[in-house]
Amino acid sequence: MTFTLFFIILIACPIASMGAKWTYNGPDGEHHWSTHYPFCGGAFQSPIDFQTQLLRYDPNLPHIQIQNYNLSTNEQLTLGNNGHSVQLSLPSHMYISSLPHRYSASQLHFHWGSSNLLTGSEHTVNGKRFAAEMHVVHFNSDKYPNISMAVDKQDGLAVLGVFIEIGDSNPAFDKFLKYINGIKYRDQKIQVPAFNIRELLPTRLDEYYRYDGSLTTPPCYPSVLWTVFRKPVTISRKQFLALASALYASYAQESAPVPLHGNYRKPQLTDNRVILVSFKDGIHGIISVASPFQRRQVIQKLLVGDLADLADDGLSQLLPKLNPLPGAAQKQHWPKNKVPSNTVVKNMPTSPYMGTLDLNNGLCFESLEKNVIRQLQRYHVKGQMVQALREVIFPELNLRSYLDCKSDLDLETIRQLVQGRPRDEAVELEQSLTKAMRRQVRKQIKRQRNPNLKSITGHPQATIIKERNLESSYNRLQQVERED
Ligand SMILES: *[C@@H]1O[C@H](CO)[C@@H](O)[C@H](O)[C@H]1NC(C)=O
Ligand SMILES: *[C@@H]1O[C@H](CO)[C@@H](O)[C@H](O)[C@H]1NC(C)=O
Ligand SMILES: [Zn+2]
Repeated sequence: MTFTLFFIILIACPIASMGAKWTYNGPDGEHHWSTHYPFCGGAFQSPIDFQTQLLRYDPNLPHIQIQNYNLSTNEQLTLGNNGHSVQLSLPSHMYISSLPHRYSASQLHFHWGSSNLLTGSEHTVNGKRFAAEMHVVHFNSDKYPNISMAVDKQDGLAVLGVFIEIGDSNPAFDKFLKYINGIKYRDQKIQVPAFNIRELLPTRLDEYYRYDGSLTTPPCYPSVLWTVFRKPVTISRKQFLALASALYASYAQESAPVPLHGNYRKPQLTDNRVILVSFKDGIHGIISVASPFQRRQVIQKLLVGDLADLADDGLSQLLPKLNPLPGAAQKQHWPKNKVPSNTVVKNMPTSPYMGTLDLNNGLCFESLEKNVIRQLQRYHVKGQMVQALREVIFPELNLRSYLDCKSDLDLETIRQLVQGRPRDEAVELEQSLTKAMRRQVRKQIKRQRNPNLKSITGHPQATIIKERNLESSYNRLQQVERED
């Protein structure tokens, strides 16, 4: 495929697919979303399963602070059925004030199970699915005039996720549930008096999961900074049933009504992501992430520092995985037949680092995009393009997420970083890394055979995953040695 064709598809696809039908089951179900909505098959998708071994405690995560959530009853909100969920519009004077930008509210909506399946949250915790989940959607109003402009931008959206379980009744939910029979069918809307939206959130706003992800419905743009509160809120069984059995996904005039339930997407691959958490307890061993400042220092060293020194004693700094870290980020390479669809490139959040070091104004998406396209112009054959995507985009992404404390530093990325360095220094560093990996693999295998030596987590599963990672990294290093 030529570069031009590639570029046209990149731009045209999302437009051409605007409005294609999608559902949670059947021929238009989630496994087919990517046919018309290519981002759904791309990177940084949501929801995900919050597995213990992917969690990193980040002491710098502030409490979530929200403003103007106590709405006056004089204000009117629009309650609507969009065929996929029940949605309540929110005024943009409600906002989150504790993120790097102001994120103003737009709407909230729900995902739920059904009257005979009381589990329907999208995010899960070690596989546990809650009864339902609420999403309060906000857009970056510092940078974008409205949500339509923000929805496909890398820093466009921030969503607050709330797990809902069945227990005590929650009077705040009745403030909109009592009108739900007025919007039984798709596209029906009514005006309802506003209320204190804070009461729909859990008491504690300081304990949450944080990661980079996407819309959980088509077009699945990877534009969401996720905050999912740790503690669920409760609603009564009666309230749950009102939500789960009142609505239809079909229009009023359709002869065969389709119930609206089970509207949750299955967990997506975590790829190279880790999940930052603002709480310590419940995490096996405390794994703090290094500060962004320390991370920049590591990159500086790789680019201009003494590589021999790094090879001698800087290895632990380079590879967080080499510490006996339980469950270092689970690495999933793009499968060969599922190379990121061309559209992924367009919205990929990442850095412009490629040859020049500009870490400060650096992590800007436009310059990356230009950069990637410039790199791809050199290639005209599909196979080579795939290779180019792997060589160019993945290290870029990894570097960016490493600097943002969202993942560990990948060996491929280290290779990219040291490419411009004198050859023997770079080779020496790679050899030391190879040796260190080998040692690590041996240690892990020994731990596995001898349970008394098991890792500090006591998590045998994490150890197995890590060993697989180490082995594949190790094989890649061997390849590198041969190629060079
Ligand atoms: C919300 O605002 C109303 C007045 O509009 C006030 O009576 C109420 O106490 C407020 N609630 C909270 C929790 O601040
Ligand atoms: C959003 O803002 C853009 C740019 O200002 C404008 O063209 C568009 O009509 C707005 N969309 C909505 C839904 O208000
Ligand atoms: Zn949602």
